[in-house]
Amino acid sequence: MQNQPEQSRMDKIVSLAKRRGFIFQSSEIYGGLNGFWDYGPLGVALKRNLKECWWHDMLTGHDELATLPGAPTPYEMTGLDCTIIMHPQVWKCSGHFDLFHDWLVDCRESKRRYRYDHLKGRWASHREKRVFVVTEQSGDEALVETAAKAQKFFGLRANKSNEIEWTGAMVPLAGNAPFAESLGPDAASPGTLTEPREFNLMFETRIGALAGNDDDRAFLRPETAQGIFMNFKNVVDTSRVRVPFGIGQIGKSFRNEITPRNFTFRSREFEQMEIEFFCKPNDSAAWYRFWRDRRWNWYLNLGLTPGRLQLREHDADELSHYSVGTADIEYAFPFLPDGEFGELEGIAHRGDFDLRSHMEGKLVRRDGALVVETDDAGKPRHRGSGKDLSYFDDISRERFVPHVIEPSAGADRAVLAFLCDAYHEDEVPDEDGKPRSRTVLKLHPRLAPLKVAILPLVKKDGMPEVAIDLYRKLKPQMATMYDEKGSIGRRYARQDEAGTPWCITVDGQTLADTTVTLRDRDSLTQIRVPLDECIDLLRSRLV
Ligand code: GAP
Repeated sequence: MQNQPEQSRMDKIVSLAKRRGFIFQSSEIYGGLNGFWDYGPLGVALKRNLKECWWHDMLTGHDELATLPGAPTPYEMTGLDCTIIMHPQVWKCSGHFDLFHDWLVDCRESKRRYRYDHLKGRWASHREKRVFVVTEQSGDEALVETAAKAQKFFGLRANKSNEIEWTGAMVPLAGNAPFAESLGPDAASPGTLTEPREFNLMFETRIGALAGNDDDRAFLRPETAQGIFMNFKNVVDTSRVRVPFGIGQIGKSFRNEITPRNFTFRSREFEQMEIEFFCKPNDSAAWYRFWRDRRWNWYLNLGLTPGRLQLREHDADELSHYSVGTADIEYAFPFLPDGEFGELEGIAHRGDFDLRSHMEGKLVRRDGALVVETDDAGKPRHRGSGKDLSYFDDISRERFVPHVIEPSAGADRAVLAFLCDAYHEDEVPDEDGKPRSRTVLKLHPRLAPLKVAILPLVKKDGMPEVAIDLYRKLKPQMATMYDEKGSIGRRYARQDEAGTPWCITVDGQTLADTTVTLRDRDSLTQIRVPLDECIDLLRSRLV
């Protein structure tokens, strides 16, 4: 079970996100739409800053002349922005059309729908009756829920619940219990769950006004990655990049998740930040390790608490049929049971699977090798483009199909992780020196929606004029706010909740010696700084 403080912590974060305009439910006035979220004024700034950090740190700020620690050689990075709807053949050759599905189970009684792999349960018996009690919960919560359901099912009072006999541990429903004897999470009697069936997660649409036949069928992309493979040849032919190089893209992806949940964590519309890094086959293992470590350090450098982050290498049986190695960067989100982590980003060694699929057709692994999948007539099941996507290295005079390393991150999940990590409650002295509890978002200054707030101590004696003048100088340089409403304590509190790292107060002394007070959100220190040094000082702290 989520321990109580962690659960209420998550509730508080969700409530702050709404109250302060970070994240709203989509179409809220119509009751909302499950799995869709809007970013409000502070949220959009936070998310844009996060994406800008990624774009800068991975692409535009990259020094292609240097050999970074752990990198086999220098490398180049470039960007791309592809369409959301692409030729349907893209998804057939990539494997998404046939394979990108979850197994779902319906409940005939409650009409609820579940992901098969999320259902688990345990056997309970009382006198002659025996039932497999199913739950969607994990950890202690699963034990509590199944105990309450069994008690109700057997018609026992609370003081008789110890008469229930439990056999075995909590195990997945899959493969462990007949459906006829399984009591669904929201059902009153067993046998109401349907057999699992495949559910493709791609959103389908139709192209054109006369839509109607199968040729018009198209899909909203479930990942941005395929657009990069579509343009591999374009980029090589039109820019001066040479292997090894990476192409980055940030954009919307869509997945018709069966059970969107945990705030924005599993949404149906979300943004990804993906890199496809193309390299020589022989160097690919070293590049995989390089990108895994580079992406791990990115989260740490932006301030995520190391103890809440985990790097998890997939076991061999978890790897996709084409993958040589995959690692997930995971975060201990507060909505998860103690000791559980949720995926922020996957770094995958994809070999030459993607480029070959789009050349030759959909590939499958047979006898250890990737071969084109064929139908009953021996023809390719999904035909590739037939275009040559190999690369000719004019220095080594070699031609090869590059291998791909793919660091694939979710922008929304990262925003959620940074919000959760930044959320703190502490006590600060108020204007009279008495302790006052405060909520503060300790966001890294690069991520903070506002960098600085300019506050005249009082609305008279020439203080607003000096403050507005400073505000106008700072505003073109960084996200700055001017606020003269309310007591200074309340204004600090508002900025702390928004995650603003610095406040500058113009007070009586400013008028005498042209210095201002610079307050630091985290240390609460207040130092006096000459007015004309403020801009340089803050800019130097923003790198
Ligand atoms: N191209 C590889 C790929 O898409 P993925 O693990 O399916 O890999 C990459 O997705 C990242 O996208 C995840 O680590 C996660 O951060 C984000 N993501 C995936 N599904 C999501 C969803 N339903 N809601 C929010 N973010 C999601």
